[in-house]
Amino acid sequence: MYNSKIIGLGKYVPEHVVTNDDLSKMMDTNDAWIQERTGIKERRWIKEGTDDTSAVMGAKASKIAIERSGLSNDDIDFIVFATMTPDYYFPGCGVQIQELLGLKNIGAIDIRNQCSGFIYAISVADQFIKTGMYKNILVVGAEYHSNGLDKTTRGRGVTVIFGDGAGACVLSREEDTSKGILSTHLHSEGKYADKLIVESPSIKHWVPQILEAKEEDLSYFPYMDGTFVFKHAVVRFSEVIMEGLMKNGLNKDDIDMLIPHQANLRIAQFIQKKFALSDDQVFNNIQKYGNTTAASVIIALTEAWEEGKIKSGDNVVLAAFGSGFTWGSAIVKW
Ligand code: COA
Repeated sequence: MYNSKIIGLGKYVPEHVVTNDDLSKMMDTNDAWIQERTGIKERRWIKEGTDDTSAVMGAKASKIAIERSGLSNDDIDFIVFATMTPDYYFPGCGVQIQELLGLKNIGAIDIRNQCSGFIYAISVADQFIKTGMYKNILVVGAEYHSNGLDKTTRGRGVTVIFGDGAGACVLSREEDTSKGILSTHLHSEGKYADKLIVESPSIKHWVPQILEAKEEDLSYFPYMDGTFVFKHAVVRFSEVIMEGLMKNGLNKDDIDMLIPHQANLRIAQFIQKKFALSDDQVFNNIQKYGNTTAASVIIALTEAWEEGKIKSGDNVVLAAFGSGFTWGSAIVKW
């Protein structure tokens, strides 16, 4: 058995910055409400007329991650792509970036686990590396939310939260099993699927329902019971972080860096307090990017690393919670 180790990280966010004040020109909201409830100051939204999509942004982040890994495209053995906003109903974004990056005809799978998508994705990649099947795997998280949001006052409870962006990493075989990804922990609870959901388009709401959809049909916009999601998130985040620590004989004092999914700054602060972590031990960038769902953990991890906040030997904890409900964690010895 091997471990897998992150050897290259990359991120890409669209240039177009949308501030809270910009949103207040589209809907009845304001900077104070958004910052107080979520911590978000601005987010990036793909501007109409650019070529960016989830697959394209994923490819841009991947290019950086591969370059930084020191590997060449031909060294990549497999692609795992996490997104809830794929370019097409099918095929998935994984096969698109095989083509966009000009990779060999390697396998590619898409992961559909929303905010927990990146944790699920590295867990899947880790298993392929552990068993020896593949040596180097490209793992991507990317989301293009902005085109699917209700940008009127009706949608303000959801729309102000989400942003576009992508992150990627190269996972590689590590012979020393005391290093790299030590363990991953995945969970789901489908009974709450309807608490955070985009119902349409789906095979249940297909042509002719799509063609006949009226403006008041909200099934095409994300629905979120925010308070319900918040309450479950704080419990599940804590549980799954503890589960990961315990599995590795660690306790909360051993955490050098916690990278929580950037759902809401208030959720991250709750977890920080619960685990008695200092500001230096938790990385947040939701203030700049909003919630980028499957891209959020990998964008945050990339930025934390770029800013020199993660060093060799650190215990890095990644954790996420989101629609499904799904939640998960990964314990990494850097
Ligand atoms: N601007 C101004 N007012 C807004 C608003 C906005 N963008 N969105 C909602 N409001 C209003 C509501 O209409 C409501 O008004 P009312 O009291 O007159 O009915 C009021 O603000 C409170 O709304 P509520 O939804 O109860 O607010 P909240 O304190 O629960 O905060 C969230 C809303 C979404 C910020 C919060 O529930 C949350 O963060 N939940 C978790 C979401 C999350 O993390 N999702 C990602 C998936 S993991």
